[in-house]
Amino acid sequence: MAENKNGTGRLAPPRHIAIIMDGNGRWAKKRGLPRTAGHKEGAETFRRIATYCKDIGVKYLTVYAFSTENWKRSETEVAAIMALLKKYLLEAVDTMERDHIRLHFFGDMTPISPELRRLARETDEITEHLSKDDFQANVCLNYGGRDEILRAARRFAADCAAGRRSPEDLSEAVFSDYLDSAGIPDPELIIRPSGEQRISNFLLWQCAYSEFYYTDTLWPDFDQAELDRAIAAYHRRDRRFGNAK
Ligand code: FPP
Repeated sequence: MAENKNGTGRLAPPRHIAIIMDGNGRWAKKRGLPRTAGHKEGAETFRRIATYCKDIGVKYLTVYAFSTENWKRSETEVAAIMALLKKYLLEAVDTMERDHIRLHFFGDMTPISPELRRLARETDEITEHLSKDDFQANVCLNYGGRDEILRAARRFAADCAAGRRSPEDLSEAVFSDYLDSAGIPDPELIIRPSGEQRISNFLLWQCAYSEFYYTDTLWPDFDQAELDRAIAAYHRRDRRFGNAK
């Protein structure tokens, strides 16, 4: 079994779940709708699943909203995803404190619009006032696992050049602190809906010992029962971390 029972007698959920929100386009196509309608529905699914994760005691939920490669999509689609993020952030600014939801972004925010960046700074400030014990959603925006590792390596090298660090200091723990996920435990469970079975540049450093769960369900159709199935599958896994039985 992967995890101990918590005080309620139920198996405790993973502390950190990460999800590649895939299948929005196919969900829309099946219904004869534009791809953007799939993203709209996908954003609603994110809202429902984040609330459910919080309710069942998951501490961190990390979702892949926009990759460093997603700029290749049409201008209309990119604009629609950014508009959904803006709408979600505007709502978050009003509700995070009330609902005790911390929000954090992973990714290189430099090419993101000044308006979205300002909103992300606002949500970061609100997050700082919330308790570290509160549920935290991490949204990956202009995120790539390789890019995250490169940005971390650059910052470590800059600290070495400035005399704040020396190369001998470098350990897994020290390097982790330079990543977007600094201070956040690695995800125990990574879920990819929509039938695709690949990592697509998501959390490459952090997934070293994650359990993977794949389902054919498209992200807009992903519901609480599906998350329960993913968590149940996780509990059946034998996590050895390289050790032998
Ligand atoms: C992948 O499905 C989905 C995306 C690239 C965008 C995800 C964005 C959102 C759900 C909206 C904003 C997010 C938040 C957190 C409010 P796809 O388009 O690749 O689907 P396909 O493989 O079926 O084409």
